[in-house]
Formats: sequence, structure tokens, C-alpha cells
Amino acid sequence: MSRFFDLVSKPAREMGTSNPPGTMPAPIERRSHVIKLDSNENPFGPSEHAIDAMRSTLGVVNLYPDDDCSELRQQLAARPGLAPEQVLVTAGSTALLSLLCQTLLAPGLNAVTSERSFIVYSMAVQATGAHLIEANMRNDAFDLDAILAAVNANTRIVFLANPNNPTGTMVEAAVVERFLEQLPGHVVLLLDEAYYEFALHFAALRHVTYSNSLDYVRQGASVVVLRTFSKAHGLAGLRVGYGLGPAELLGYCARMRNTFSVSSVAQAAAVAALEDHHHVQRVVENNAAQAQVLAQGLAGLGYRVVPTSANFLFCDLGEDAAAVSVRLRDEGVSVRPLGPWGAPSCIRVTIGTPAQNQAFLNAARRLGLRSSAATSQVSSLARGS
Ligand SMILES: Cc1ncc(COP(=O)(O)O)c(C=O)c1O
Repeated sequence: MSRFFDLVSKPAREMGTSNPPGTMPAPIERRSHVIKLDSNENPFGPSEHAIDAMRSTLGVVNLYPDDDCSELRQQLAARPGLAPEQVLVTAGSTALLSLLCQTLLAPGLNAVTSERSFIVYSMAVQATGAHLIEANMRNDAFDLDAILAAVNANTRIVFLANPNNPTGTMVEAAVVERFLEQLPGHVVLLLDEAYYEFALHFAALRHVTYSNSLDYVRQGASVVVLRTFSKAHGLAGLRVGYGLGPAELLGYCARMRNTFSVSSVAQAAAVAALEDHHHVQRVVENNAAQAQVLAQGLAGLGYRVVPTSANFLFCDLGEDAAAVSVRLRDEGVSVRPLGPWGAPSCIRVTIGTPAQNQAFLNAARRLGLRSSAATSQVSSLARGS
């Protein structure tokens, strides 16, 4: 078939060629001023403090970065009262997912998650030659009973995205706690809290308890909590994320990582971003308010929207979402069609600034006028108002 097919490892041969990030190359997007609501990025950008910190680091990028990310690690550990050894900083939290898989998995072993969850879980697992079991969802959310039923003697990791990407659903702390009590000792629970700050804010508004995940880490449970600077802190392009978990396990993961993988610019920006509570507050407040605007707008067009705890909405259009996404892109807005997640009539829309969201809703309305299904919905809505 080709020169290298027989030479590469079995996992490399068998992995799909799926390319999850972005739906078109970023440079074109930037040039064409597409409103980018397809990758759950922060529409407000990084904090000014982080930008200043990056600038002040530029003059020393001739030097290799601190491989231990000491300052950042210490700050991340000190706040929740952990030891620095219970924190591992990586080049984006996806790097931590890969490290954990490389450390715990091998051919013959498996990891368990839900269908319709973060696409990188399957990539990270497949790269090790292990198998990913995807339990069914219930009401667009993780079904923890189904996940428990799928766990077997060869399971080493359970991935729980909380909130889940792409459905935006959240599992409350008490439910996670009961689940953790039932997990067998040979399984590590990866609690993926990439959207932590957004979920915390929504939970406060809804008077529910989102997460006690750091208690589990303090108690020494077999739990790794994953967080990132890519979302609420607006540093996705820099690639900084981290895990909080048992020192021994993170020590094994650290052996597997690339040397100097987190740049000095990224480390400085992350330290500064941590201090800027004002920026994060502005981001999560806009997000919660705009989630309502977008959800109401989409529901008004006759689409089903799942209540979100993250910075995006999962929306069932009831028609071919890939085709609608192409037409939306022609209108200048990029969203994520969810065919590859087994939801061909659904899209995921990142919650943007008020202006971006209005532009998206206006584009959706214009499309609605062109599509026969939506035309009847829009006109019946118009008659009703
Ligand atoms: C559930 C979830 N986990 C982790 C990540 C990875 O974030 P990063 O690698 O940018 O830290 C994402 C990004 O979209 C995500 O949706």
C-alpha cells in the first residue's frame, strides 16, 4: 500500500485520520473574519495581565523554560492546599490525557467513557493500542450506571467530562461522589473539568453543588482532576493545562512527558492569568447571560437546546447539521456540526460576545427563511407574536 504501512506501529496504522480541532485552517479564518463559534474558545481573549507577562518574557526565549513549571505549579498547589507533587503542568490538558493513557494503558487494557464525549479521549486511548468503551448516554448526559456496568477487570481509566463536551451537561458533586465510591480500586477516574469556571458560575446561579473534586485529591483517591487555561482564561493558543492527583501517579506521567514542553511564555502568562479574577468573572458572567440569549433565540427558531453548564450550546436542528453549518459559514459564522459524534442533526455553538451571538442568530434566521422546515417554524412564530 505504501512504504511505511508495514513499518509503523499497529496503533498508528489503525488510528483514524480524524482531525478534531477547527473545521478549516486557522490562518484562513483569521483572514476571512469568520465569527468562530466552533471550538469553545474565549471570545474576550486573554487577560491584559497575561498579555503583559507574555511581553516581558519575550526577551528571554533564547533560554529553555523551567521544566518543572515551579512557580505555576506552586501556585496551583497552594490554593487548594495540595503539595506541588500533586500537580502536573502540561502543554494543554490534552497532553495530560495522552500522558495518563500512555502511563496506564496498553494493548489488552481499556478505558471507559460515554458516547458523545470529548473526541480526544478516543485518540489518546487508541494511540496506546488499548480499547475505549463508550457507554450509552441518558438524556444527553453521562449515564454513570451504564459506565459502571461497562467497567471490567481490564479497565484502567474512566473519563468523566464534567461538564461534557459537546452536550454541555453537568454531573452534580453528590452523584460523582457516589460513583467514585463504587469504582473498583484498579481504575483511575479522570475528572475532566476543562470548563470548571463556567460550570461553577452556572451552579451558583442554579443553587446546586458542581464539584468537590479537589477533596478527592486531598483524600488521596485514585482521581486525576484535569483543568486548563484554554477556556475561561483565554490562553488556548499558548497550550497550558494541568492535572491534580496522586503524587506517585503524576510522577509516572511526568517521566513520559517531553522535556521543556511548556514554554516560558506560557508559564508566565498562566501565572498572571491566575491572578486576574476580574477577567474570569467578566468571562463567566457574559457566558451565563449570553447562554440564555442564545438558547432563547434558538428555541424561538424551533430548535431543541440542551441546558448548558459550559461555554457552548448543544442544539438539535432536526435537519442535516453538516449542510446547515456550510450555509452558516457562507453567512460568516462557523459552528461545529456533530455528525462525527453520532448526532448528525445537531450542532455545538460556542457562546460568544453579545455581538457575535446576535450575528449568529441573525444568520440562523436568514437561513431559516431559506429552509422549508424552518420557514414554517419561523412563520408560525411570527404569527404567534
Ligand atoms: C472536555 C475537554 N477537555 C479538555 C479539553 C482540552 O483543552 P486544552 O488541551 O486546550 O487544555 C477540551 C477542549 O476543548 C475539552 O472540551
